[in-house]
Amino acid sequence: MLSGKKILVGVTGSIAAYKTAYLVRELIKLDAEVKVVMTAAACEFISPLTLSTLSKNPVAIEFIKDEETGEWQNHVDLGLWADLFIIAPTSANTLSKLVSGNADNLLIATYLSAKCPIWIAPAMDLDMFKHFSTQENLEHLRANKVRVIDPTSGELASGLEGKGRMEEPEQIAQHIHDFFIGNSKIKGKTVLITGGPTYESIDPVRFIGNYSSGKTGVLLADECANRGAHVILITGPTHAKVQNPSIKVIGVKSALEMKAAVESHWSESSVGIFSAAVADYRPAQAADEKIKKSSDSLQIDLVKNPDILFWAGQNKTADQYLVGFALETENEEANGVKKLEKKNLDLLVLNSLRDKGAGFGHDTNKVSFIKPNNKIRNFELKDKSIVMVDIIDEIESDLA
Ligand code: C5P
Repeated sequence: MLSGKKILVGVTGSIAAYKTAYLVRELIKLDAEVKVVMTAAACEFISPLTLSTLSKNPVAIEFIKDEETGEWQNHVDLGLWADLFIIAPTSANTLSKLVSGNADNLLIATYLSAKCPIWIAPAMDLDMFKHFSTQENLEHLRANKVRVIDPTSGELASGLEGKGRMEEPEQIAQHIHDFFIGNSKIKGKTVLITGGPTYESIDPVRFIGNYSSGKTGVLLADECANRGAHVILITGPTHAKVQNPSIKVIGVKSALEMKAAVESHWSESSVGIFSAAVADYRPAQAADEKIKKSSDSLQIDLVKNPDILFWAGQNKTADQYLVGFALETENEEANGVKKLEKKNLDLLVLNSLRDKGAGFGHDTNKVSFIKPNNKIRNFELKDKSIVMVDIIDEIESDLA
């Protein structure tokens, strides 16, 4: 399934555009979220209404969305929204514009703003496809990491026979599916993730907590589930919602509840990713009744919470892979290396509060990976969901 994956489908002027309706339908069947951007020429071949109905989203065509208000179509948002942009069919005309960057329509402007993988499925007459101009354009795009889904051979709309037919929609959908989860090393494995803050009760209405939003745990869970893993997300209170319905969510409040949940699921897990912001201390005794405002000061005795990640590291078999997070404010790397060793981790994701845009509550994060033998990789500031992809890619690169 492609749950949680956002696929932008571009349509250009080619008779193969009728097949795009089937492609959109296949992607929706796989539970992807689909949006469509069309060129004006594409609308001559297939109605935007068809694609809007199938994709369950408005179709973007013009730079100006509403003539009366002058509201414009934000191609940058559309480009950044997508996890993958596939232009199917790609006409010879659009192909040359992709190479030159000639943004005289919304589709090309969106392409120039997109940060995700770009795929094209060319469709044209055999001589146009064979032409050196077309072949050079394809070569140029391939060299720049655009994935080309080669056309197949067969009968063409012109009545000629040869290579130029757009690949069948079911095949394209399968390629997209394989790209996201097909070859994943965590596919079929159980991944245990902790996330969110913990709330440590002071009395029935008050607690000690922290600013963790729980977004990281949820994003990690979605990324793993989208790659076909069985995910158990043990999370403290959060408003963040998982997208992938296959994720088993266990909601907990306190560190002790989180530890109990981890203990009962750790042995069945192949990978553990501990991103929870667990409170280090809890009130020694939570009051049974609401504490009254009487004296001028109030002391609350705190006792140390168990370190859940440390426990998992102590109870880790050779087949289990363990990831921890650390938020350091000074001597980040040195402290990170110590933490990796002390907690018996395979990977430590380090983020520093000193970096602007990193840490609690932000949608971006700047991390470093620390692995045994002082292997360190530093990353740029990135969108949190992309950081998650980097983390899971790193785990997969270490799995057998
Ligand atoms: O030691 P420190 O709190 O900096 O370690 C952070 C890492 O340990 C995180 O991965 C966090 O989820 C985990 N942790 C835990 N239980 C605790 C404290 C931290 O699992 N009581």
